[in-house]
Amino acid sequence: MTTIAFIGSGNMAGAIIGGLVENGFDKQSLWASDPSQDRINELTNTLGIQGTTNNITAIEQADVVILAIKPQVMEAVLSPLKEALQEKKPLIISVAAGINLHSINAWTGGDLAIVRCMPNTPALVQQGASGLYANQQVSENQKVISEQILNAVGMSVWVNEETQLDAVTAVSGSGPAYFFLFMEAMIEAGTKLGLSAETAKELTLKTALGAATMASNSSDSPSELRKKVTSPNGTTEKAINSFIHQDLSKIVETALQAANDRSVELCKELGA
Ligand SMILES: NC(=O)c1ccc[n+]([C@@H]2O[C@H](COP(=O)([O-])OP(=O)(O)OC[C@H]3O[C@@H](n4cnc5c(N)ncnc54)[C@H](OP(=O)(O)O)[C@@H]3O)[C@@H](O)[C@H]2O)c1
Repeated sequence: MTTIAFIGSGNMAGAIIGGLVENGFDKQSLWASDPSQDRINELTNTLGIQGTTNNITAIEQADVVILAIKPQVMEAVLSPLKEALQEKKPLIISVAAGINLHSINAWTGGDLAIVRCMPNTPALVQQGASGLYANQQVSENQKVISEQILNAVGMSVWVNEETQLDAVTAVSGSGPAYFFLFMEAMIEAGTKLGLSAETAKELTLKTALGAATMASNSSDSPSELRKKVTSPNGTTEKAINSFIHQDLSKIVETALQAANDRSVELCKELGA
C-alpha cells in the first residue's frame, strides 16, 4: 500500500485527500502535515487520516510526498526537509503553480523522482483538470500512482515537454475564471434584457453546466455541436455572428497567450 504525505494541508491538499478517501484509498496511509494544529485536527477528525504538524514525521512515512504549499514559501519549506527527502527518496508531486522542476530539484537536493502538476480550482468539487510532467527519475509505476492521485479529483493528462505546463496553466489552470467571466457577462446582459438578476444567473449557470455536460458526453466536437444548434437565420446564429464579427477567437488567443507568458515569468521570479 502506497503511503502519501501532504506537505501543506490547505484547500488543494484537502480536496485531493477528500477525493482519495471517497475513492476508497486506505485512510491510515494518508498523512497530512500543516503548521496549524486546528487544520490537522479538522482533517483527522472528519476524514480519519493521519496528521502531524511536523513535515519530517510525515516524510518519514511516505512513498509519495505531495507539495501543496504556496509557491512563495516553497524554497523556505523545502530547505529543512532536504535531508529527510534524500534519505527516504519518495516520489515528489508538486501542485504549486509557477515552480519548475529545476527549482524543486535544486531545493530537494537533486536526483529525486519528481512530477510537476498543474491542477485547477474545480478539483475542490472533484471536477478538476490537471496537466502532469515527470522528470527522468519517475518510473512507469510512479506515473500510474500520480495519475491515480490526481484522478481522485477529476482528470489528468501527461505533457511531453515541461514548457507545455505553461499552456496547461493558460487553458485549464486559469480557465475556470474565463468561464466565470463569461457567466458574469451573460448574467449582466440577461438583466439588461429585462430578467431579474437571480433568474439570469440561474439560467446562465444551468446552461453552462448543460453545455459542458453535452460536450463531454457527445462524440461531436464543440464546433459540430454549435453548428447543430445554430439554425439558419435563427436567434443563435445572430448572436454567434456577433461574436465572430468581434473576433472572439482572437480575443481568446490573446488572453491565453498572456496567461502562458505570465506563467513563464512566474517560474523565473519564484524559481531557483
Ligand atoms: N486552490 C487551488 O485551486 C489551486 C489550483 C492550482 C494550483 N494550486 C496550488 O496548490 C498549492 C496550495 O494551494 P492552496 O490553495 O491549497 O493553498 P492553502 O489553502 O493556503 O494551503 C497551503 C497550506 O500550506 C500550509 N503551510 C504553510 N507553511 C507550511 C510549512 N512550512 N509546512 C507545511 N505546511 C505549510 C499553510 O498554512 P498557513 O495557512 O498557516 O500558512 C496552508 O494550510 C499552491 O502552490 C497553489 O499554487 C492550488
